[in-house]
Amino acid sequence: MIYKLSEAIMEIISSQTLPTKQQSDCLVIGNFSDKSLKSQPFLKTLDKATQAQLNALEKSGDLVSELKSSVVLFFPTTPFKRLLLIGLGKTKNFDARQLHMTLQSACTALNKLNCKTVVFDLDTFIPIKKDFLHYAQLSARMLGENCYRFDRFKSKPSPLKLKKITLYSETGTAAALKEAVSLGSIIQDGMCFTRDLANTPPNHCIPKTLADAAKKLASTKNKITTKIHTKAQIEKLKMGAFLSVAKASAEAPFFIELHYRGGKASDQPTILVGKGITFDTGGNSLKPGASMIGMKYDMSGAATVLGVFKILGQLKLKMNVIGLIPTCENMIGGNAMRPDDVITSMSGRTIEVLNTDAEGRLILCDALTYAERFSPKQVISIATLTGACVATFGNVTSALLTNHQPLATALLDSSLSVYDKAWQLPLWPEYQPLLSSGVADIANIGGPMGGTITASCFLSRFTEKYHWAHLDIAGTAYTMGDGKKNASGRPIPLLVDFLRTKA
Ligand code: BES
Ligand code: ZN
Ligand code: ZN
Repeated sequence: MIYKLSEAIMEIISSQTLPTKQQSDCLVIGNFSDKSLKSQPFLKTLDKATQAQLNALEKSGDLVSELKSSVVLFFPTTPFKRLLLIGLGKTKNFDARQLHMTLQSACTALNKLNCKTVVFDLDTFIPIKKDFLHYAQLSARMLGENCYRFDRFKSKPSPLKLKKITLYSETGTAAALKEAVSLGSIIQDGMCFTRDLANTPPNHCIPKTLADAAKKLASTKNKITTKIHTKAQIEKLKMGAFLSVAKASAEAPFFIELHYRGGKASDQPTILVGKGITFDTGGNSLKPGASMIGMKYDMSGAATVLGVFKILGQLKLKMNVIGLIPTCENMIGGNAMRPDDVITSMSGRTIEVLNTDAEGRLILCDALTYAERFSPKQVISIATLTGACVATFGNVTSALLTNHQPLATALLDSSLSVYDKAWQLPLWPEYQPLLSSGVADIANIGGPMGGTITASCFLSRFTEKYHWAHLDIAGTAYTMGDGKKNASGRPIPLLVDFLRTKA
C-alpha cells in the first residue's frame, strides 16, 4: 500500500537579529505606498553605499508600492545578497486579507529566484503595533500555505528551492515572537498534512488510508488515541445509513474515532465530525462526467479533522476534543443503494433515499448520533456537502449553519480574525417540511431549492441533543487556482482559532 505524505515542507522560525546582518539568500522588505523607505529602520542598518542606492531608487520613482508588485535588487557583497521589495498598497488598508495578498506576491517572486534561505522583515509588512503578534502568526501560516507543493505523483518533481524562512521583528519580546511564529508554523504544517491527504488520488487515498493516518497520529506523548471501528463493528452500532452508502464499494468502510485528552477527564469534549467520502460517483444517481472530476476531495472534511488533530498534538491545549470520521466510497454496482430505498439510521429513524448522491448527510447522521454518547459541549460537522454551496459562495466562503447562535458567533469571530471566511445561512423551521417523506420519517433531499440549507436541516434532525454547528466546505476545501484543482487546508485556521479561544 503506497502511503507517504510530504509533510513539513520547510522550516519557519523567528529571529531578532538584524535582518541586514543575517546570512541569507534574500531579504524581503515590504513597502507601503504612503510610507517613505527612508523612514524604515532597516535602511539605517545598511552600509552607506547600499543606502544611497535605495534612496536613488526611491527618488527615481521606480520603487514599487502598489499591492501585488515586486522588484528584486542584487547586492552581492551584503550578507543577504538579494533584496526583494514587495509593494503593499496603502497603510490604512492593512488587514489579514492584504497581508495574505502581499505574502502571496512575495512567494511568487521568491519562486522565480534561486533562494534556499530568506529573511522577512515583518516590521515592514505589519504597520500596526496592536495585534502585531497575531499578524506574525498569520504571516508564518500564510507563507507556508503559499509554498505548498503536491508532486508525489510526478515522475520529475520540481520541489520548492526555499528551505528556510526566518521572520524578523523588533516588536514585542523574542519569546512572544517565537511563540507566535511557531504557532503559525504548526498550523501551516497541519494544513499541509490535510492538503496532502485531500490531493491524493482516490485509487491511492481509500478509507483505509484515512484510518492509517489516524493511527499514525496517535501516540501517548501527544495525548491522542484512536479507535478504528471496522465494518463488523459499524454493523453492531447499527449505523444503517452509513452502511447503505458504503455497500457498493470494494473498499472496506471505517468509522474513525480520535480522542485528544488535554483537559480534565470531567471536561465535556468538543466533537469534530468530518465527511470522509474518498470518492463520490453519486451512486445510482450517477454524477455526469464533468461533475465527478474532483470528487476525490469529498473526504476534505475528514482530512480537516485529521489535520486539526495533528495540530492539537503539538499545541497541548487544555481541553478534550473528539474526532469522528465515517469514511467510505460512494460507488455503483449491483448491490448499490437505490433511489426509493428506505434505510434505518443509527437513531432508529427511517430515511427515504430519493437521491443516492446526497450521501454525505447519510454517513454524517450516524456519526452525529454516535456523538451523543459523549455529552459534548458542542459538535461541529465539516463536509463538502452540497453543490449549492459552491453556487452560492464560490471558492471564497464556507457556509455556516447552527442550532445554537453563540456557537456560530464564536466561529464567525475566528473566521474573521484568521482570514478563513465563513458566512451564516439560516436554519429556520420553514425549511424543514421540504424533507417530508411519504413512506419514511424523513427524505434525504429537500428538492431543488435551498440545497445547502435543506442538507443542514437533514443533519439538524440528528443533533437535537447538543449544541451543533455545520461548516459546508464544498467550495472552500479546494480551489481552482491556475485552472488546476488544489486542496486549500481550509477551514483548519478557523477551527484551530476557535479551539484555542475555547481552551
Ligand atoms: N459531494 C457532493 C457535494 C459537492 C458538489 C462537493 C460539488 C463539491 C463540489 C455531495 O455528495 C452531493 O453530490 N450533493 C448533491 C446533493 C443533491 C443530490 C441534493 C448536490 O449538491 O448536488
Ligand atoms: Zn454526492
Ligand atoms: Zn459527496
